[in-house]
Amino acid sequence: MLNFEFKNPTKILFGKGQIENLGKEIPKDAKVLVLYGGGSIKQNGIYDQVMKALNGFEVLEFGGIPANPEYAILMDALKVIKEEKITYMLAVGGGSVIDGVKFLSAAALYEGDSPWDILTKNIRTEVGLPFGTVLTLPATGSEMNSGSVITRKETQEKLAMGGPGLFPVFSILDPQVVQSIPERQLANGITDAFTHVLEQYMTYPVQALLQDRFAESIMQTLVEVAPRIMKNPADYEAAANFMWSCTMALNGLIQKGVPQDWAVHAMGHELTAMFGIDHARTLAVILPSHYEYNFAAKSEKLAQYGQRVWGITEGTTTGIAKEAIAKTVAFFHSLGIDTKLSDYTNAYEGTAQKIKTRFTERGWLGLGEHKTLSPADVEKIVEMSY
Ligand code: NZQ
Ligand code: ZN
Repeated sequence: MLNFEFKNPTKILFGKGQIENLGKEIPKDAKVLVLYGGGSIKQNGIYDQVMKALNGFEVLEFGGIPANPEYAILMDALKVIKEEKITYMLAVGGGSVIDGVKFLSAAALYEGDSPWDILTKNIRTEVGLPFGTVLTLPATGSEMNSGSVITRKETQEKLAMGGPGLFPVFSILDPQVVQSIPERQLANGITDAFTHVLEQYMTYPVQALLQDRFAESIMQTLVEVAPRIMKNPADYEAAANFMWSCTMALNGLIQKGVPQDWAVHAMGHELTAMFGIDHARTLAVILPSHYEYNFAAKSEKLAQYGQRVWGITEGTTTGIAKEAIAKTVAFFHSLGIDTKLSDYTNAYEGTAQKIKTRFTERGWLGLGEHKTLSPADVEKIVEMSY
């Protein structure tokens, strides 16, 4: 097992009706800005529940944060924060709203010229403006981690940021919110969380027995509840297990003491930046090719995953590892998720070359658990995903 530190300061309030406890988590004298997305919360009743729970607080609101939170729109919100002297933010939404609020948390206290530098210059946020979240879409794990991914249309970029100052102070996880989520987003959530686990697991063995079983148990739970959730998002027990699995997949726990990959995400973000493809779907496009391309380096863990998560018992290590990739692709397909770039766009020619150039320019010269995947390797993997 590798050495590690582990600290996660986010308080979780999980379960039915927890939104009404919101007010107890925010300082009474706070000037609160409630931030949300395109308006789904006004149709499903979450907005009303939140506003009721904030009764007695001084509250302003900022709606319209789009999926893949857009820098230009967030800069409008930053203006409000500064002009109104906001002291506390509440993100009500999925990963996009929460990530947008994390950017604002950093940008509100940032003293440099342009907050975009936080993303391009990898500036870690040690202290941010405090914020809580009401999660409306299980998927990213952003509700209990300190990372954020921001998109800028103008330059077709999608970049990550983070730092210990960006953990939510608290997050409210009421699985009842799942019932209004459209099928496409349910499938995205399952796929994203499943891939988060794989990014922290599908590397090489380091005798981290417990972490491996944490990871496998999250994947097994997702596989078990996926058909129930897709069939009936109002199934509370399934929704609760789905939601907790997504949070646990990326709150730092399972990655402690083990190598991590994250190359699938790095390549996937480029596909969202270029084509606007949903985050989870970009992962389903890249992941199979990434595992095929790096098959030798990953085959031991692929075989372990095949045996323990998919119950494959017959065959050689290589055979089981190959079948494990096929099972993963079939799982994505069972959710209605396509796994080839050409399923999403006709303009895929040249994508691999473009990503290679971008990674080279950014100095991203070694990705993956061994930090050895070069931009030339990335080009080949993306090409295999067409
Ligand atoms: O905008 P509204 O109207 O709210 O609708 C949203 C949006 O259209 C809708 N939705 C959310 N909750 C709903 C609902 N519709 C009905 N009922 C509900 N209860 O779902 C749509 C998608 O929402 P979004 O927040 O974009 O989805 P998701 O949670 O998948 O977030 C994706 C973003 O998170 C980033 C991704 O890159 C992407 O930008 N990620 C963040 C991570 C992190 N911070 O740790 C890790 C991930 O790997 C990922 O990169
Ligand atoms: Zn993801």
